[in-house]
Amino acid sequence: MPRREMDCLLEEVLAINKYLEEEIKEKGILIEGHYTGEMDVLKSEFNRVLSMLYEREVQLEEDEIEIDKYSRQLKSKNSELINRQSELEAAHSQLKAYTEEMERMNIELNRRVEELKNLFHFSQEVTSNFDKYELLRIALKDIVPFINSSFGAVFVSKEKGLRLVDTYYRDSATFSIIEPLAKRIISRGYLNYDISLEDVQIHTDIEKTPKFYKILKDKLIEKFKSMALVPVLDKNKHIVAFIVLLGEYIDENEKYLLSCYSNVLSIALENAKLYDDINKMFFDTVKVLANAIEVKDMYTKGHIDRVTDYSVAIAKKMNFEKKQLEKIKIAAALHDIGKIGVPDEILNKPAKLSEDEFNVIKLHPLKGYEIIKDIPALKDISVHVKQHHERIDGKGYPEGLKKEEISLEAKIISVADAFDAMTSDRPYRKGMNFKKAADILSNNKGSQFDEYVVNVFLNYLEENDNII
Ligand SMILES: [Fe+2]
Repeated sequence: MPRREMDCLLEEVLAINKYLEEEIKEKGILIEGHYTGEMDVLKSEFNRVLSMLYEREVQLEEDEIEIDKYSRQLKSKNSELINRQSELEAAHSQLKAYTEEMERMNIELNRRVEELKNLFHFSQEVTSNFDKYELLRIALKDIVPFINSSFGAVFVSKEKGLRLVDTYYRDSATFSIIEPLAKRIISRGYLNYDISLEDVQIHTDIEKTPKFYKILKDKLIEKFKSMALVPVLDKNKHIVAFIVLLGEYIDENEKYLLSCYSNVLSIALENAKLYDDINKMFFDTVKVLANAIEVKDMYTKGHIDRVTDYSVAIAKKMNFEKKQLEKIKIAAALHDIGKIGVPDEILNKPAKLSEDEFNVIKLHPLKGYEIIKDIPALKDISVHVKQHHERIDGKGYPEGLKKEEISLEAKIISVADAFDAMTSDRPYRKGMNFKKAADILSNNKGSQFDEYVVNVFLNYLEENDNII
């Protein structure tokens, strides 16, 4: 190679050398100044450097392509990520909405469960009760707090209008506002109001309803914004009772629940009526049996009715429950049923009885017991019939029982029986006046008669102006 060409090559090598100074340094190939060695070595070295440079260029290009590829992938991943994030955000808000809906449904479900529980409890309470007024009171006390009203009133439907049975207040503030109105209704006896309702009515803005405004006036309208009218119908769709509820937020949602209460109450009232009818029928049958004695014993006309009335009056003053009252009423009506087994000539003898005859008469409580003890509906009361001639001091008959050994019902019938026997006219003597008979009862307290029963009876006679 000519010298000139070599110099050019050397210059180029040096330029490249400078560019790759560091790398070439590492490889230990440093070319400086004029080269004086073998041309072949220089060429070979140049080719090696050139080839290394080429490889580096290729590598760079490949890296660039790779970087570009990664960059595109990265962009694509990024956009995918952004999409995913939006999807996630959408899913999250949907989940949040579902959760809220679930919570709302859960609250609603809990509310419905509570409603059903309350309704079930109410059904159980009212189906085991057969007193019409008691049923209406139970209904009012159950419904008012449950539907979040402040005041409730329950009426029974009579020919003259609605008669107030009971009221229920949630708080004393409500009581002070509404009490004068309740008193006014009670003093009038009946509330005349157009009650041709067939279903529950909810009024959420009563101040704008003139007919309510007229009844409730300013004070009540200010306190209560809403009102529910709940008719209780019989099977012929006639109103038998009526419940009025006042509150701030009674709304249409309560309508279904109130209808359920009304239906349950309607069935309970119908059952109570049937129960009363059956009881009346049963008592009528008992009366037929009891009257058989009055036919046989000509001196005791009206005696059974009066003894029954006195006995029931004493029992009421002693706060007997309805069922106990029914039992003492039957026991009193049947107390002398055993006289059926006493011969007429002894029973109706106008003169004083011999000892033997009196001993026959004394068997009547036991005979009465024997007659009715095997009748399931009369089994309970047969004991009272047997004991109605027992005395507190044990000198009575047929068993000579004392004090607590004698049933309270028998003690009551004993006082009622003795008082009516003393005050009734007989063919052979005139009945004594109430005052004298009451004194005799009083003087025999603790010996023949139970002291407490006599005191209650004397109080009853005083309260009813029966001169004592
Ligand atoms: Fe008797």
